[in-house]
Amino acid sequence: MPMTADELRSKYIEFFKSKGHVQIQGKSLLPDNDPTVLFTTAGMHPLVPYLLGEEHPAGKRLTDYQKCIRTVDIDNVGDPSHLTLFEMLGNWSLGDYFKDGAIRMSFEFLTAPQWLGIPLEKLGVTVFAGDAVSQSDTRARSDTRAQSDTAIPRDEESASVWKALGIPENHIAYLPWEDNWWGPAGSTGPCGPDSEMFYYVGEKPCGPDCKPGCACGGWLEIWNDVFMEYNKTGGGAYEPLARKCVDTGMGIERTVTILNGKKSVYDTEIFARIRAAVEGAAGYVYGTESEKDRSLRIICDHVRSAVFILGDPKAVSPSNVGAGYVLRRLIRRAVRHGYKLGMEGAWLTGVAQVVVEDFQGPYPELAENRAYIMDELDKEGAKFTDTLQKGEKEFEKLLPNLLRDPRKLMSGRLAFRLYDTYGFPVELTEELAAEHGMTVNKSEFDEAFKKHQELSRTGSGQVFKGGLADHGEITTKYHTATHLLQAALRQVLGDHVAQKGSNITAERMRFDFSHGAPMTAGEIAGVEALVNGAIRQDLPVGVAVMSLDEARAAGATALFGEKYEAQVKVYTIGQSAAEFFSKEVCGGPHVEHTGVLGTFKIQKEQSSSAGVRRIRAVLE
Ligand code: ALA
Repeated sequence: MPMTADELRSKYIEFFKSKGHVQIQGKSLLPDNDPTVLFTTAGMHPLVPYLLGEEHPAGKRLTDYQKCIRTVDIDNVGDPSHLTLFEMLGNWSLGDYFKDGAIRMSFEFLTAPQWLGIPLEKLGVTVFAGDAVSQSDTRARSDTRAQSDTAIPRDEESASVWKALGIPENHIAYLPWEDNWWGPAGSTGPCGPDSEMFYYVGEKPCGPDCKPGCACGGWLEIWNDVFMEYNKTGGGAYEPLARKCVDTGMGIERTVTILNGKKSVYDTEIFARIRAAVEGAAGYVYGTESEKDRSLRIICDHVRSAVFILGDPKAVSPSNVGAGYVLRRLIRRAVRHGYKLGMEGAWLTGVAQVVVEDFQGPYPELAENRAYIMDELDKEGAKFTDTLQKGEKEFEKLLPNLLRDPRKLMSGRLAFRLYDTYGFPVELTEELAAEHGMTVNKSEFDEAFKKHQELSRTGSGQVFKGGLADHGEITTKYHTATHLLQAALRQVLGDHVAQKGSNITAERMRFDFSHGAPMTAGEIAGVEALVNGAIRQDLPVGVAVMSLDEARAAGATALFGEKYEAQVKVYTIGQSAAEFFSKEVCGGPHVEHTGVLGTFKIQKEQSSSAGVRRIRAVLE
């Protein structure tokens, strides 16, 4: 049934509401509680604590739409199907229905005429074939699998539900790990076998064994039901979860593509106006030349992604580390492909305006942050256009010599010089080299880059943002310590102190907060003493669910700019609800008593950005 993205989003939410689900807010693209990834990569990501056993204030059946970014594929973007930013629809069961319920609802939404009305013969599914979980291979999409010997059985239950619903045997594929296992985005977290749903987009099956997952590419995955049964721990073991959950994710762009019988997402209404804006700026009509089409798709994807990152309540700005670096790469790669299409001047913001207009309905933050988006794009675009001109000129000077090399290998040191002297990114050197049939000696570049980093001692290690999808015992302790720290800072420095960010690893915590001046040694000692005092008193940590207004009235601090559900969890550290040391709106988890935290020590207090200080602290 032909449908726009807006219609699909509404239908999905309406369907799952009719099945007892509560719609929750999609979250930021920049995860707050996960030191292991830069971006929210799936709808389940903000829900990790709940999938691991925390109670969700909205209940056991949830649904939402979530903006996601996956950067593993960034260099593949340009082909007709890859996207950096995509939207995911999802429904969750937190210890409520499991395989049977999830599959039946998925089937109804896909096939019932009043929902998507997909004909049965177009549908195929995969289920987990059963596997000894012993490999350490990497799943491109999400899992970096650790060593383990856990044997996980074949998922006959899911297969039998699909069969009972009418999916014929020859449309059901049993696939191993690589295909039918959802692993945590980082190295630990909830995981389990999944069952994926496919739509047949091919012309004719390539043979009698042409099933979903077939290498002929005839089947396109549109939805995934994950059966969260395990928690993968830091040691690589798979511990059964006490409460089994369901996590599903349907890709909006892909589903709209197939529902409208299109070959590529770039041919759908989702990209229609963005594409037209780029075509207009380039004076080029899509579909004329394949190389130029590729550039055009890259621009559409990258500008859309950059606008979403800049328009996020937790936006970063272009930089050389972490999420800021990804943003910088997206903008720069777009500018470079614009340059190839002969686009000059401030075209970036023209295209960005269209993105804001088209997506401000479901994502009002884009319009709210319009000025910031345009300003940052303007600045980064101008800076890079300059870099580009200088770098390309330099590359062209080097070219005659480079082409003489029979191995067609450009030295990494040379690529590093372009980077170091002109700021010309190595990815672009690689692209330019590839255009002349050459490759860049990347390991040599990396070596030179590392040496440079050691010399300048900047930028290393700071790839992470955020503070707790990692549920380890130590990270949980640090998480509670951030609450104590914030409360102590407010006591010592004043109520203007507000959390600006936090980042937790098993080794230390980092906490950014608003404050206009460096802390004195006395203030630091005072904060340490307050936190350690609260630890020594072994205060209980309690949690209650209430509305955000009630939470504020009760004196709880909440993150400014964060979107919260109608009902939130409030963690109180102290003797009672009235007499407390700290009270914060937070998803958890936390320790039960502060006594287990050890000794809190501030290692460093420094400036983070204008008006923001950063504390690095450890629990000893
Ligand atoms: N988390 C699952 C996915 O993104 C549903 O495919």
